[in-house]
Amino acid sequence: MFKIVKRQEMSEGTVILNEIEAPLIAKKAKPGQFVIMKANETGERIPLTMADADPEKGTITVIYMVVGKTTALFKTLKEGDAYQDVIGPLGKATHLEKQGTVVCVGGGTGIAVLHPITRGLKEIGNRVITILGARNKDLLILEDHMRAVSDELYVTTDDGSYGRHGLVTDALRDIMEKEDVKQVVAIGPVPMMKFVSLLTKEFNVPTMVSLNPIMVDGTGMCGGCRVSVGGTTQFACVDGPEFDGHQVDYDELMKRLAAYCEEEKECYNEFCTLEQA
Ligand code: FAD
Ligand code: FES
Ligand code: MG
Repeated sequence: MFKIVKRQEMSEGTVILNEIEAPLIAKKAKPGQFVIMKANETGERIPLTMADADPEKGTITVIYMVVGKTTALFKTLKEGDAYQDVIGPLGKATHLEKQGTVVCVGGGTGIAVLHPITRGLKEIGNRVITILGARNKDLLILEDHMRAVSDELYVTTDDGSYGRHGLVTDALRDIMEKEDVKQVVAIGPVPMMKFVSLLTKEFNVPTMVSLNPIMVDGTGMCGGCRVSVGGTTQFACVDGPEFDGHQVDYDELMKRLAAYCEEEKECYNEFCTLEQA
C-alpha cells in the first residue's frame, strides 16, 4: 500500500496534489517520468507524472486534474489513506542540456509535468523563460513554483482574468521574435502543443512535447499508447512520453484520446450518482 502523507486542493478543488510514500520509486525517479496508479482492487489504473520526488523522505508527488471517474475516486482519498498500487518510474527521463535561452510553455495540468523539467533546465545553467496558460485565473496552477525556477515568467488567460489576454502562442511569438531561443518545451492540452509546434516550426526552433495518449500497462505490451511520430509508430509509455513536437501527428492523437468519450462520461455520471446517494 502507498500512503498519502500530504494532500492539497488547488483551483477550487479541481486539481489535487498528493505526496505519497513510495521509497523505491522516489530513489530512482527522474524529471519527465511517470507512475501508473490504482486506488483499490477494482479500480482503473491511470498514468500520472511525478511532479516531484524526494529520495530522502521516500515520497513522490503527483498533481492531477479531476476529469472523470478515476480522478474523482482518487479525490475521495484523504491524508493517511493509501493507494493499492503505484508502479514506476515509467517512461524515459527528460534529456536535459545546457543550451542558452529555453522557453517552457505549460497549460492546464501540463504545468505540473513541466515543473520538474523546468527546474532541471534551470539547474544546469539555462536561461529559462516560462509561459503559463489557463482558461481563467482560477484554473492556473503552480505559478509560484514555476516562478521560482524561471528567469522570466508570463501568464496568459483565455478570458483576460489574469496576465495577458490571449493564448500562450501570442506570448511565445513575441519572445521568439526578439530572443535567440534554442529550445522550446511545451506540455499541456494536445491542441496547445500542436499550435506551439506549428509556431516554433516557423522559427525552426527544436520543440519537445510530452504526449498523453491512453495507457494501460505502461510497459510497451498492449499498444494502447501508440502515437505516430515522423511517420513511425511509437509507444509513448516506453519510447516517450517526450517526442519531437514537429514530428507528432496531433490530429490522430486527439482522435484516439476521444475514442471512449461516451463510456467515460457514462462511467463518471454513474460514479457521481453513487457518491451523492
Ligand atoms: P476519464 O473520463 O476516464 O478520461 C478523461 C480523459 O482522460 C479521456 O478522454 C482520455 O483523454 C484520458 N484518459 C482516460 N483514460 C486514460 C488512461 N488510462 N491513460 C491516459 N489517459 C487517459 N493528468 C493529470 O492531471 N496530471 C498528470 O500529471 C498527468 N500525467 C500524465 C502522464 C502520462 C504519461 C499520461 C499518458 C497521462 C497523464 N495524465 C495526467 C492524464 C491522466 O492519466 C488522465 O486525465 C486520467 O487517466 C483520466 O482518468 P479518469 O478516469 O478520471 O477520466
Ligand atoms: Fe501499453 Fe504503452 S501503455 S504499450
Ligand atoms: Mg477513466
